[in-house]
Amino acid sequence: MSIEEELQQLERFARERYIPVMVEETRRLLFETVRAARPSRILEIGTAIGYSGIVMLTAAPTATLNTLEMNETSAAIARDNFAAAGMSERVNIFVGDARETVPLLTGRYDFIFLDGPKGQYITFFPYLDSLLTVGGTLVCDNVLYKGLVEHIPDDPRHKHITVARNMRAFLDRLTADSRYRTTLHRIGDGVTVSYKLSD
Ligand SMILES: C[S@@+](CC[C@H](N)C(=O)[O-])C[C@H]1O[C@@H](n2cnc3c(N)ncnc32)[C@H](O)[C@@H]1O
Repeated sequence: MSIEEELQQLERFARERYIPVMVEETRRLLFETVRAARPSRILEIGTAIGYSGIVMLTAAPTATLNTLEMNETSAAIARDNFAAAGMSERVNIFVGDARETVPLLTGRYDFIFLDGPKGQYITFFPYLDSLLTVGGTLVCDNVLYKGLVEHIPDDPRHKHITVARNMRAFLDRLTADSRYRTTLHRIGDGVTVSYKLSD
């Protein structure tokens, strides 16, 4: 099966089970950004069933991927999917809560894809910043979070208000950081692409 067919099959699998994977436009942006960056070590927060991981490893055919996932069932499915794509030897899946696993990470990465718990981006940022090489790329999905980040609800009891506020704090911090050159893409649920210019 070609990688394209494999991805289509994964999309169907995810859709039928209400498992979140990225939309087509985001997939294209991620693929092109990875291809241009030519990373050798990729870190991902939020593996799900391995869809975005397969996209990134296809775009960077010699790269390795460390990917973090809390849900054991998803991680097991991802493991099978990486194997079916012939990528097992290039992937390590760390199963556990990223709030615990991220602070334990060592080494440096030249590409980081942040797509895990949406209320935690602001907490992860200092760790990811220290893990990312100068010249490296940070891509973050869902930064507009259902449109709520630019229109924070007035009702303090709104179901998503804490996530929306945290994501807003993250987006403000990232875009104000002069060490990064960040572009916000208004596609899907909002995606930032940030190039790290200095430590
Ligand atoms: C949007 S999905 C990732 C989609 C995937 N990157 C893709 O596009 O194929 C987010 C994933 O983060 C995982 N997740 C949520 N909270 C987490 C946490 N605290 N630690 C690790 N993973 C978490 C969820 O189980 C889910 O699989």
